[in-house]
Amino acid sequence: MSEKKAILKVDGRDDIELPVHTPTLGKDVIDVSSLTGQGIFTFDPGFTSTASCESKITFIDGEKGQLLHRGYSIEELAAKSDYLEVCYLLLYGELPNAEQRDEFVSTVKNHTMVHEQIRNLFNGFRRDAHPMAIMCGVVGALSAFYHDSLDIKDQKHREITAFRLIAKIPTIAAMCYKYALGQPFMYPRNDLGYAENFLHMMFGTPCEEYEVSPTLARAMDRIFILHADHEQNASTSTVRLAGSSGANPFACIAAGISALWGPAHGGANEAVLNMLDEIGDISNIETYIAKAKDKSDPFKLMGFGHRVYKNYDPRATVMRESCHEVLNELGINDPQLELAMKLEEIALSDPYFKEKKLFPNVDFYSGIILKAIGIPTSMFTVIFALSRTVGWIAHWNEMISNPYKIGRPRQLYTGETERSFKVLGDR
Ligand code: CMC
Repeated sequence: MSEKKAILKVDGRDDIELPVHTPTLGKDVIDVSSLTGQGIFTFDPGFTSTASCESKITFIDGEKGQLLHRGYSIEELAAKSDYLEVCYLLLYGELPNAEQRDEFVSTVKNHTMVHEQIRNLFNGFRRDAHPMAIMCGVVGALSAFYHDSLDIKDQKHREITAFRLIAKIPTIAAMCYKYALGQPFMYPRNDLGYAENFLHMMFGTPCEEYEVSPTLARAMDRIFILHADHEQNASTSTVRLAGSSGANPFACIAAGISALWGPAHGGANEAVLNMLDEIGDISNIETYIAKAKDKSDPFKLMGFGHRVYKNYDPRATVMRESCHEVLNELGINDPQLELAMKLEEIALSDPYFKEKKLFPNVDFYSGIILKAIGIPTSMFTVIFALSRTVGWIAHWNEMISNPYKIGRPRQLYTGETERSFKVLGDR
């Protein structure tokens, strides 16, 4: 925090001096929290200019296209680390040494099974329910199960909750898939790595051994890393807001899953593949680009644009490379990848997309890799939720570990002024 000040001039009032905080990275932040005492609020729908909290977890420079977790670039983490190590980093602030890493991995493994009663919850859902609908319900229901560690003021309890969530989310995600297929749920296998175990629970059956391809497990792990956290996005802010009331952490994560589901956020990866299906052929791209530019048409190019990135999303660059690697290694010649690349090329050279700085985001390529791995489209956002759980829990924990207030935004009221009630006959 620095000594800088901002002066606010409002008609008919004395100048108001506001402190300006200087972050370790990024833009200066004017502290307006004293304004309410002066009888003024600020107005910022969509929080485009508002820092809702102080955080040490993740930094994004949207102009540069930079994403850092605890100071480490996403490119380096994707190339040199693995998901559970990134989880440790997000939660504890440092990369683990060998001993810490072994202990962390083994504790996560201790928690991979879900309570047997949770199986019964699934039977209440229709078999054709969207897996995200089931995820919202089942993760919220975890709050009814793990009563032994619900004191959110106790750091040890919060840690156990984090372990439970990181460990059980893949199990629940795979159960959502198996339920839709009508296949038996697969128990987790703790001799496998995190991504391998998820693929085992997704594609294994009790009838025969499923051999997990190391290429697919590595690709899956990289997808988990690339989605692990992204500072104060809609779902993370939802988790913080829900958590600020002191709510049960599992219920807060369920709220995050609900916020993630929308096509403007985590639902975009599913929407990208649906869009590529709809476009169908390279010859139709121009028509769809014209639709995306037409203000009277609600169509948007899914997987393009980002609130923060006004440059290439660095996650999209890694995902793009990963996509080529996976398809090459699997020998898949996917016409959708060709279509996606052509769409990207045409959009990036179009003045509309250039002027508005609309670049491909992480979701543009992730769907193509997930499809190559054999994951059905409806599960794409579930995988995003699985990966992002650590980010949500890290932010929730950061908030609860520090002094915080309940999140309570104000409003610019433009409704009726006070008026007298009219009895029915007078209306
Ligand atoms: N296709 C066509 N036009 C677009 C698109 C797009 N994908 N995205 C933004 N625009 C236009 C928008 O119409 C607006 O035009 P104008 O200034 O003339 O009104 C301008 O670009 C700025 O867009 P905005 O909607 O004000 O920007 P935002 O920050 O509110 O929204 C966004 C960001 C990601 C919701 C939006 O770009 C979008 O809907 N993209 C498609 C969905 C998508 O891919 N979402 C995944 C985001 S990355 C994963 C994640 O973090 O969850």
